[in-house]
Amino acid sequence: MGQLHGVDLIKKKRQGKKLVMLTAYDSLLAGALDAAAVDVILVGDSIGNVFCGDADTLSVTMDQMVYHAKAVSSSVSHALVVGDLPFLSYHVGLDQARENAGRMIKEGRAQAVKMEVSSALLPAVQAVCDIGIPVMAHIGFTPHSVHQLGGYKVQGRDTQQADALQSLALSLEACGCFAIVLEMVPEALAATITAQLRIPTFGIGAGVGCDGQVLVTQDMLGLTSHSPKFVKRYAQLGDAIQQAVAAFRADVTSGAFPASEHGF
Ligand code: KIV
Repeated sequence: MGQLHGVDLIKKKRQGKKLVMLTAYDSLLAGALDAAAVDVILVGDSIGNVFCGDADTLSVTMDQMVYHAKAVSSSVSHALVVGDLPFLSYHVGLDQARENAGRMIKEGRAQAVKMEVSSALLPAVQAVCDIGIPVMAHIGFTPHSVHQLGGYKVQGRDTQQADALQSLALSLEACGCFAIVLEMVPEALAATITAQLRIPTFGIGAGVGCDGQVLVTQDMLGLTSHSPKFVKRYAQLGDAIQQAVAAFRADVTSGAFPASEHGF
């Protein structure tokens, strides 16, 4: 089975198949996600919150993203690897957008990039699509604009905002994007946008009407201390790690570890 591409996701949507995307920042976790047959592994700039412990994603750099994308790509043979372009890596000019998207492919070895988009950034998306780099767009609540949006708030609740999101989604499809992430959008609006598009949508806090779902892996595995309403926890690995470390500590302090079978 070869590696998936954007066109395969579009085909899966046509066939009515649901799509699965999760995040990874390192080769070990990426290998586990790939073995579990997820469709897409996103090297998200949520690395700012989850890996670096920051309150937001705004200080994540292109160098950091390339470094982690390379680690993820090294262990993936089936899923499509998408590298997130961080804040201010494509906002300054079209050359900057092309150059940084190119770095994600050339150095990070990702097969596609993700860009958080408002209508003002459509030319940057078009510039990246035009040089043959597949783009996954991200609309609705976009973490790069957290300060402008006044915090982590659902987007598209009123008619004007909903119309704007629908027309932005259609423009992104026309630019050549192969998929769109809809974050924190009312379920009915996300379902309407999904039905209007040929390309798949991935919801995160956008309901079951999307073509696929994406979560931050550390949230769904129960590794993060706080997670948003839209997260379902499929494991409690944070607790499991604490228990394992406590058991190791007890063994070391009591002299029960290492035992004779661990020595040479
Ligand atoms: O950075 C990220 O991990 C993301 C997902 C939450 C969609 O953008």
